[in-house]
Amino acid sequence: MNLAWVRHLIVLGTLLGAGYTSTDMADTWCYEDPKCGPETWAALGHCNGTRQSPINIVTPAAVHNPHLGAVSLAGYGDARKLISMENTGKAVYVHLADGLRLSAQGLPAIYTAKSFHLHWGQGAAQPGSEHFINYKSFSMELHIVHTKNNLSMADALKDPEGIAVLAFFLQATAHARPSQSWDSFTQHLKDVTLKGEDTDLDGSFSLQELLGSVDLARYYRYHGSLTTPNCDEVVVWTVFPDPILVPPGVVDAFPSILNSTDSDAGPRLQNNYRPLQRFRDSQVQASAALRVAPSSSSSPQPAALIPLLISTAAIAWHL
Ligand SMILES: *[C@@H]1O[C@H](CO)[C@@H](O)[C@H](O)[C@H]1NC(C)=O
Ligand SMILES: *[C@@H]1O[C@H](CO)[C@@H](O)[C@H](O)[C@H]1NC(C)=O
Ligand SMILES: [Zn+2]
Repeated sequence: MNLAWVRHLIVLGTLLGAGYTSTDMADTWCYEDPKCGPETWAALGHCNGTRQSPINIVTPAAVHNPHLGAVSLAGYGDARKLISMENTGKAVYVHLADGLRLSAQGLPAIYTAKSFHLHWGQGAAQPGSEHFINYKSFSMELHIVHTKNNLSMADALKDPEGIAVLAFFLQATAHARPSQSWDSFTQHLKDVTLKGEDTDLDGSFSLQELLGSVDLARYYRYHGSLTTPNCDEVVVWTVFPDPILVPPGVVDAFPSILNSTDSDAGPRLQNNYRPLQRFRDSQVQASAALRVAPSSSSSPQPAALIPLLISTAAIAWHL
């Protein structure tokens, strides 16, 4: 197919998609094929906007906000709320029953979790998080998607703070303790190897167990967008910099088990992350607890990062 024809298809898809749900858009964009990959998304929806996600969070530049305490999660320990797992061809989604509620300073309402999904690269050897922290990416990124006051997704997209996403990094490391909940998660991937397949979950893991011991008081907050078309700028992001540590086998399971099409021969589902966006518009805030460096951390102190930031400023400009 030549490029002009593809452009026609994209325009047609956009017109057809306008009156329907976002799933009707699903075949007009992709991650890995240059014909429909992230470079082409600027033509779709809001993807060329001024507060697009994901971003690189430069931690010394974040504005410390002493009012941002720990986020409060209710119901996340209940394994029965995880209803089903689905391979959408773009990611793996877990659909949630009603009853998981997020509240936190800086959020204008209570938000209800609707689903969660993951982004990844090509296993433990090739990271695929969407956000970066100080120019560093992680093996995978978990997004828990919530809507304000339990709005439907369609209504949430009409409110500039309609969606709150909690973003957690996963980092593969040989030192990680085995995780029964992540092992159980990856076992279920075998029931959704093809695009369009879904499987009921059996209460064998909860979201809280998947999150492990991540400190819910340490996070960055900014107003950005969905990271998939139509890239609506309606998301209050809460990004936790301390990764969930998992054995490499967990991270390797995603691209090796999942296909991006409904055929076993189809390309693997991998590298399903949007590249960093140039952030034109908004400010990143650091939570109260981030003033104190974690005692176990080996990350450089802010002062040590400044030369690095100056030397990488030129790179950031091109994002
Ligand atoms: C995206 O926005 C920039 C800056 O406003 C503009 O120069 C560019 O032409 C836009 N690209 C598309 C594809 O709309
Ligand atoms: C939240 O919305 C869902 C889906 O519309 C609905 O089934 C559920 O009862 C709502 N929950 C509350 C507490 O209103
Ligand atoms: Zn996501």
